[in-house]
Amino acid sequence: MNSFEQEIANALEATGSFTAEAALKLISVPPDTTHGNFTIPCFSLAKVMRKAPKMIAEELAAQVKLPAGLSKVEAVNGYLNFFIDRGYLAKSTLEEIDAKGLEYGHAAANGKVVCIDFSSPNIGKELAFHHLRSTMIGNSLSRIYKAAGYKVERINHLGDWGTAFGKLIVMYLREKLPTDQATLDALTVKELNILYAAFSKASKEEPGLEDEARAAFTKLEKGDEFYRTLWTAFRAATLKELMRIYDMMGVGFDHYTGESFFEDKIPAILDELREKNLMIKSNELDVVMLDEFDLNPCLIRKSDGSTLYATRDLAAADYRMKEYHFDKCLYVVDLGQALHFKQVFHVLKKMGREWYTNMYHIPFGVILQMVDGKWEKGKTRTGTASLLRDVIDAAQKKILEFIDAKNPELENKELIARQIGISALTFNDLKNSRVKDVRFDWDAVMSFEGDTGPYVQNAHVRLCSIMRKAGYTVKLSEIDYAQLSDDAAYSLINLLSKKGEKILGAVAGDEPSVLAQYALEIAEAAHKFIHEDRVLGSAEEKSRLFLVQSTQIVLENVLDLLGLFPIRQM
Ligand code: ARG
Repeated sequence: MNSFEQEIANALEATGSFTAEAALKLISVPPDTTHGNFTIPCFSLAKVMRKAPKMIAEELAAQVKLPAGLSKVEAVNGYLNFFIDRGYLAKSTLEEIDAKGLEYGHAAANGKVVCIDFSSPNIGKELAFHHLRSTMIGNSLSRIYKAAGYKVERINHLGDWGTAFGKLIVMYLREKLPTDQATLDALTVKELNILYAAFSKASKEEPGLEDEARAAFTKLEKGDEFYRTLWTAFRAATLKELMRIYDMMGVGFDHYTGESFFEDKIPAILDELREKNLMIKSNELDVVMLDEFDLNPCLIRKSDGSTLYATRDLAAADYRMKEYHFDKCLYVVDLGQALHFKQVFHVLKKMGREWYTNMYHIPFGVILQMVDGKWEKGKTRTGTASLLRDVIDAAQKKILEFIDAKNPELENKELIARQIGISALTFNDLKNSRVKDVRFDWDAVMSFEGDTGPYVQNAHVRLCSIMRKAGYTVKLSEIDYAQLSDDAAYSLINLLSKKGEKILGAVAGDEPSVLAQYALEIAEAAHKFIHEDRVLGSAEEKSRLFLVQSTQIVLENVLDLLGLFPIRQM
């Protein structure tokens, strides 16, 4: 179905006064619909058409043939106003929701592939609270892209290689921890975290320790078997905990191809860079110059022969193209790495990978927390930052207190409290444009009032509860559209009709916030409808209950696309 805007533009073109394209630019959607759902100010046309705006609007109103679904057109003081036929909108929207269900508004498969690299934490330590952002933005984007018709490859580019592991090895051996296989198998990430913190502390007093760690990593890179055994154990211990948290958050990946996975694919990259004369020596380092793009050189290899983060990203890009034939490759990584991605993409350009233009860094701002009266960014390496699992536990506890006060008999209340808690954290991360920093304020985030996760989930719960109380479901054939034409019902239906547009809008800007704001709008309109139009026991019960069911379906899927749990009872 073409949008109403397009239909109006076509109808205006047919009057012969101007092109559909020009008309489309003039159409706006006023927030207050008393003067129409679409309006065209005719003032800018006065010059070209050499007539007063008022007259232009009047002439157009008389000439234009109303497209299907619009009930009237009006000229008021130089504005041309179009009104949607409420019955038509209700019928077309509700019929389609009925036919498509949760997939209402989704696009047909478009044959395109998108790789989404997200979460991708450095392992050897636990997930910190700030990892929530990449994880949940990426998780949501992967769901939204799928709904927009893409085949999605969800990639976790684990930071499972690098000097950090040298540090852990040095510290592990220094503390003379047992290295028999049974002990290694039983290692937990908590123990690694302690080692990590111990290293940071010790290296402040002994600067030589950093060199030791680098040397240990080089030894690991060269293939030392014992070091490899330790590394494997460290990796497995962190991965176990990582998976536990992802499961809890409802996050999944198609590929766990971390940095270590690319070790054997790096020589080919180095050979090619050398063959194409792209790599030069600078201060003992192998680099690719990027002056022509106004960028600092990209570091490829250190003097001891060990490779770097960027080198592994070059190999990973080639691998993704070869394996998945992506049309787009997204990197959901904090704004702080903007330069890194520019460098990697431009080295690929110099290597002749024309598809480098299809790679996008999807940056986001940091989470700020109040520390001693100041908004501060959390740190992880020193072990002072909050761990994600602690934040999730605290969120669960807070919601559980609320449930215990209101509905202590609720079945599965621990699980539900955790899901609401996680959703609250997620919503707070997704509700605003992603490049903005997120100010994290416990009370505001967990509140059932305001633009929060609990608020939208509660709207969904209320819809479900009306359906449960009704005890029956209404069929499309049983409803009377005329009973759904009052303002509250119409506003809600009008919002539901926009789901497809919103999904495409979120994809166009790689912005889950488009859907988060949409969820808030639906929640608000649904509350209003339930409040103003009594559903159960009214003469319009069946029609209204049908709208409740349809809204529930749309909201459930929007919550799901955001990666929030669509709770039914709380
Ligand atoms: N492990 C990196 C970090 O924690 C993020 C990796 C992002 N993905 C990538 N392909 N570079 O900073």
